[in-house]
Amino acid sequence: MVQDLNNIERMYDSVAKEYADTFSGEHDKKPKDQEILHRFSQEIRGRKPVWDFGCGPGQTTKYLKDLGIEISGLDLSEKMINQARTIHPDINFRKGNLLKLKFDDDSIAGAVAFYAIVNFTEEQVGIALREVFRVIQPGGRFLFTFHIGEETIHIDEFLGNKVDIDFMFFTTEFMFSCLKDIGFEKVEIIEREPYPEVEYSSQRAYVFARKPVG
Ligand SMILES: C[S@@+](CC[C@H](N)C(=O)[O-])C[C@H]1O[C@@H](n2cnc3c(N)ncnc32)[C@H](O)[C@@H]1O
Repeated sequence: MVQDLNNIERMYDSVAKEYADTFSGEHDKKPKDQEILHRFSQEIRGRKPVWDFGCGPGQTTKYLKDLGIEISGLDLSEKMINQARTIHPDINFRKGNLLKLKFDDDSIAGAVAFYAIVNFTEEQVGIALREVFRVIQPGGRFLFTFHIGEETIHIDEFLGNKVDIDFMFFTTEFMFSCLKDIGFEKVEIIEREPYPEVEYSSQRAYVFARKPVG
């Protein structure tokens, strides 16, 4: 089973401005995000290129750029990309599909994907993770986040707009075995409680993974 990509794209197009207004400075309110992004920046320092997949308005792209990482952003939604370009004119953003990346094999040093998979089914998560594995160089790093749980939440209103979409939660067991089956190594899943009044009240996971050398 898969979620219709056109519906996902339409949904983020329709809320792009409100999403950017709401989430652009969010890392400032989330100390664990900051700690994790600093760690990623240290692990990837001096290597390029790095990409932020499902970058939305580019808050994570910008955070890593400010830490000295040569990073670009990619998103399915043209309107999100427009927001990202307006807010961060010094960063390269482009439209693209995480499920079918137009990158050569072994061509990038690393990637991040903050909550980019939240509307994917398990089948689509497998496709996305395989794509990231394919395009990352041996020894390359991947950091991504997701909501922990087993539920699927259907919503028909998001940031004041009428929408019709599912948000998926995943178990850490599913994600760990998916990454291992694909071939990632040094998989580490770090869990945290939600920050009250700052974000949706769900348990969060940060995942570090590496593509083996040789
Ligand atoms: C929940 S938002 C997260 C945005 C940003 N990374 C953040 O942390 O706020 C999910 C983002 O993933 C993008 N997205 C969804 N499916 C995608 C796909 N197949 N390829 C690329 N981007 C995708 C959406 O357009 C949206 O901007």
